[in-house]
This record gives sequence, structure tokens and C-alpha cells, in this order.
Amino acid sequence: MQNITAHEYEKFVALIYDEIGITLSEQKQSLLESRFYKRMTHHGLHSYDAYYDLCLSDYSEKMEMLNLITTNETYFFRERDHFKFLKEYLVNYDGATKVKIWSAAASVGAEAYSIAMVCDSILPANKWEVLGTDINSHVIKKARMRLYQLPWSEKIPKELRQKYCLKGKGKYEGMFLINRELAKNVRFQTNNLLEPNPDLGVFNIVFLRNVLIYFNDATRKRVIENLLVNMRVGSYLIISQTENLNGLDISNLEQVDASIYKVVG
Ligand SMILES: C[S@@+](CC[C@H](N)C(=O)[O-])C[C@H]1O[C@@H](n2cnc3c(N)ncnc32)[C@H](O)[C@@H]1O
Repeated sequence: MQNITAHEYEKFVALIYDEIGITLSEQKQSLLESRFYKRMTHHGLHSYDAYYDLCLSDYSEKMEMLNLITTNETYFFRERDHFKFLKEYLVNYDGATKVKIWSAAASVGAEAYSIAMVCDSILPANKWEVLGTDINSHVIKKARMRLYQLPWSEKIPKELRQKYCLKGKGKYEGMFLINRELAKNVRFQTNNLLEPNPDLGVFNIVFLRNVLIYFNDATRKRVIENLLVNMRVGSYLIISQTENLNGLDISNLEQVDASIYKVVG
């Protein structure tokens, strides 16, 4: 395999930062070298520079390259306290309109379907909807398939697992499928958190968990300000318990719990 030069790597680092806000460390260099090398040879190219130029001129290859960068670790009912908060919110919800919830860095959909299970166990199907978005088109495809390895179901509370998960048979042995009816209220699409997207609509609650960690302060602030376009006074923002918004100086967010913020006037 051909080595990537420091200069070539720097060019990719700058492009990736501009596109998705992720700052790559030097430690990632050998990992990316092998991933980029595969794409480079796939296109019959002979240098990383040529592959970089292809990413600039070909949008779909650029997105393919960005798919190689993201870390997509996730699981069902990650950080259980947030689902307790969600349950309480839904039980007390007396608004006339549908409750809309956004899983804004959804990965393969475990977070969005966990949210959906809680919603459906409390509200009628016509009173809630969930949107899952991610920059990575591969994970969005997987999320739409709603098919997961069976061990992933262990984190789902038993009564929800029994109601919403179907154990695979035959060629789906060792897997489980999310109930089709539940999935009707869950949509997935690609979206870049670096850009505001008013077309997504307005949400009661936005889950933005385990993604801020990849961004520097300027990008974190930009991402939160973009999300505020899709929130109103009284909406909630939930980040991971391992993250914080310290020092971002966002005046219309009031912290109501360690990792939960409310939009105030
Ligand atoms: C570690 S996963 C978090 C999944 C889920 N929220 C959770 O907490 O389990 C982070 C996700 O953020 C996505 N991501 C990274 N940069 C992004 C960006 N600029 N816009 C949208 N999604 C992004 C990645 O593709 C990845 O799937």
C-alpha cells in the first residue's frame, strides 16, 4: 500500500473539517490511509492527491469518503435517564399538536427506535413522530432496514422488547426486526449538522448525543445554533451525560438537568 504524505493528509484533514466539522488527529492517519487507499484503487487512481481532487469534483465520492470518517457507535436505550425524562415529558404532554422528536446524530437508528418505543407505549400513534438524521448515508440505510443483531435487543426493556421486536428466523436467525407499525412513525434522512435546516420542521425534543464530542468549541456552538432553528420556547435539547455546553455562551438555553436544556425566551 502506498503511504499518504503529511501534505496529502493535511489536505484531507482540512476538507473533512470544512465539510463535517470533525477534527482528525494524527493518530488516525494510518487508519485513513488504508481506507482512502481502497477508494483510490477502486477508481484506478495512483495518488492520494488524485483521490482528493476526485472528492472535490464528485459530490457522491466526497460523501463516500466522509462515510469513512464517522464513528457510529450506538445502542438501544443508551443513557437510560434520558428515556425516563422522555417518558415523564410524554405523560404530562397536554398539547394539541403531535409530539415531534429528532434524533439528530442517529447513526444506525437505535436511538430513534428507542425513542419511538417510549412514545408509542404512552401516546396513540397519530400523536407522535420521530425523525432520525445523520451525515453518514450508510448508517441511514441501515436504520431504514430496522434489522439488528439479536444481542442488541438485550438493552431494550423487556416489555418494550416483547411488544416491538420480532426475533428473526431462517436467514434472519440471530437478528431481530423492529415492528413495522412502530417504524411507520419513524423517518430517516441524511443531514449535516453544520448547516441549518429549517425544512426539517420544529421539534419538541432534540436528542444530540455523543456527537458534540467530535467537534471543537466553534463548531459546537455553530451546531447548537443551527438546531435552535428547529426549536421553540419550551423545546428541550438532550446531549450526552459525558458532554457539556460549557463556554459556548448560548443565552436562550437554560440547563434543567446535567445534560438537558430547555429553550427559554
Ligand atoms: C457516536 S454516534 C452517536 C449515535 C447516537 N446519537 C448515540 O448517542 O448512541 C455519532 C454520529 O454522529 C454522526 N455525525 C458526525 N458528524 C456529523 C455531522 N456533521 N452531521 C450529522 N451527523 C454527524 C456520525 O455519522 C455518527 O453516526
